[in-house]
Parts: sequence; C-alpha cells; structure tokens
Amino acid sequence: MLSAPSRPVSHRNRAAIATGQPPRRSPLNLGLVSAPTENPTTTSEPAISESAVSAAVTAALTAISAAETSVALKAVRTEHAGESSPLAKLNALMRSVPNDQKAAAGKLVGQARGRVTQALTARESEIGAAEATAQLAAEAVDVTAAASTWTAGARHPISVLMERAADVFVAMGWEVAEGPELESEWFNFDGLNFDEDHPARAMQDTFFVEPTDAHLVLRTQTSPVQLRALLSRELPVYVVGPGRVYRTDELDATHTPVFHQIEGIAIDKGLTMAHLRGTLDHFVQALFGPEAKVRLRPNYFPFTEPSAELDVWHPTFKDGARWIEWGGCGMVHPNVLRSAGIDPEIYSGFAFGVGADRALMFRNDVKDMHDMVEGDVRFSQQFGMNV
Ligand code: PHE
Repeated sequence: MLSAPSRPVSHRNRAAIATGQPPRRSPLNLGLVSAPTENPTTTSEPAISESAVSAAVTAALTAISAAETSVALKAVRTEHAGESSPLAKLNALMRSVPNDQKAAAGKLVGQARGRVTQALTARESEIGAAEATAQLAAEAVDVTAAASTWTAGARHPISVLMERAADVFVAMGWEVAEGPELESEWFNFDGLNFDEDHPARAMQDTFFVEPTDAHLVLRTQTSPVQLRALLSRELPVYVVGPGRVYRTDELDATHTPVFHQIEGIAIDKGLTMAHLRGTLDHFVQALFGPEAKVRLRPNYFPFTEPSAELDVWHPTFKDGARWIEWGGCGMVHPNVLRSAGIDPEIYSGFAFGVGADRALMFRNDVKDMHDMVEGDVRFSQQFGMNV
C-alpha cells in the first residue's frame, strides 16, 4: 500500500509513484521525451527527440530517392528501415519512455517509420516498373523480322536416287542431260517413231496441253531426251537423262500421275545388244548390289528394235527374292537415228528407260506412292542424304 504523500507531487511523479517506478526526468522542451536515465550526466543513449527522428527520416528519404536500382534500394532499406537503422534504434528507446509520454513518442516514431516505409514502397514500384521496361526493351523480339534459324529440310529420296544413278554413268564417262517437262508432241512421239495413229500414243495416257494446235504435251517418258541429246551433240553420244514424267493415272498406292524415269542412250559405231546388256548389268549391280541380276524379255517400243522389257532380281527385295519389271530397252530404231540426221548404216546404239519411283519402292521398301508425292519432310528425312 502506498502511504500518503508527505508533500505535493507533480502529476508526472504521481504517475510514477502509481506504477511503482522511480520518477524520471522530463524532457526539457514540450513534446520531447528523454532517454531513460538515472543519471543524465553518464548516459550515452540518444534521446527520442523530434530532431533526431526528423534527421533519420530526412536521411532515409534522401537515400531512397537516390537509389537507382532495386539492389541499391534493398541496401537503403536495410540501412534506414532495418533492425539496426537509426529509426529502429529510436524505436527501441520507447521502452524507457515514461508512460505518459509513450503515446506522443510512439506517434512520432511510428509516423516517421510509416513515411519511410511508404517512400520505400513507392520507390520500389517506380524502380520495378523502370527495370521491367528496360528488361522488356532489352529482350524485345521483332516478330516481323526474318527468322534467323532454319529447320533442316531433307532431300527427296527420288532426287538422291536419280543422282546416284546418274553418278554410275558419269563414272563410265557418260554425260547427264535434261529436257523440258512441257515437251513438243514431235519429240515425245513423232520423232521417236510413233505413227500419227499409233496406239502407243494413246497407250501412254498422255496429258495433252491446250491449245491443242500448239502440239504440246507433258512428256510421258524421258525418251525425248534421247532425241534432244542426238540433235545437240556430236557423235558418239553417251548420255543419261533422269527426269520427271506425266501420265493420266489416278494417284493410288502404286500409281501416280507424276513419276520419274532415268533414260539412257548410247550411239556409236558398232554398238550391239551385248553392250546394252553389259551396261545394264553394271548399272543394276551398282544401284542394287552385286547380287542383282538383269533379265530381258522381248517387248515392243516404237523407238527401239529389237525391244525388251527389263526385269531386275535381287535376293533381298521387299517380299523376297523375285523378278521385278523395271523398264524398257532396246536398240535405237533406225527411224529415230534418221530423225536426228544420223546414218543408221554407220551408227548404231541402244537406249533404256527405268522408273526411279519404282526403284525406291522395291529397293527401299516404300509401300505407298502417296508418301512420295505428298511432300511430308518426315518421309524424306528417313532416308538421310544417301539413298
Ligand atoms: N520410254 C519407255 C517407257 O516409258 C521406256 C524405254 C526407254 C524403252 C528407252 C526403250 C528404250 O515405257
């Protein structure tokens, strides 16, 4: 129990007595609170003064607005709002502020800390926005710019196979020749000894091109390259002509209106069927392997006489070892030589034509012609660069 005071006490000291605490010194000026001290001459702790608080706030605000980056601002936050910042230290003094001054002191420090926190938040979002904008600018992608990377495509296996076939002949000293796909009827038929009414003209399911009086066709075979080679070269001639040809077939698993042939023609003095046979043996073995065999069966073509069907056998063709019809061949008809202004009494020669797409089917086990013409790069990629 408290005893009655023996003398009047100040309001402040009354409060102190009520709490059982020793009376404290009051700050000297209004609104200021002092550090707890029993002995003011020995204390080294700073007082919670308005000037100390406002100095801390000013320093903090100056540092905050000077911070240019989020990293710098983080350091400022630690220094001015962290646990050992001046404001935190001032706040720590609160516990020794006399109770009757705690509210004023708390408000002073609390508002100061609030201002600093607010300034930090505001600056943080300013810097964040600026940094995001800078990053976006740095990482900007011009979607209208041409792509700088290209996905690898693939060569079509038919192109590769035809080149490989041509190479076999180049190695024997032959030349490679090409002709137009839009061909004159004369080169495709007349000059190759097809009569006007010859059924073969219809037999080959020709695409006639309008206007019909221009007499143009999509070539039905590479044989016009034979004639073109003879007309444009000095004799002797050894020419191989790989190329695209057209017939009015419906596209199905084994037919396509666009396909490829490899044509060959050799004109020299004294060439015989034996040269044809020897050339085909070599060609077939170079393309399919040393076990491959050639078989010739009598047949008819207007531009060769005698003519033969050319079959190929190989032990590991798809569906096993068997003979497969691959093309036609024969000795160049004297009328074709005459079409090219060559005397058949002096020169003779042979020609052949084989299917590149067919070769890919039985050599590489392609089951469906659709795959060859649809242009899906995944089909071509399976073959790599070497068929
Ligand atoms: N051109 C003929 C065809 O497409 C093939 C062939 C070419 C026949 C050369 C004999 C000589 O059927």
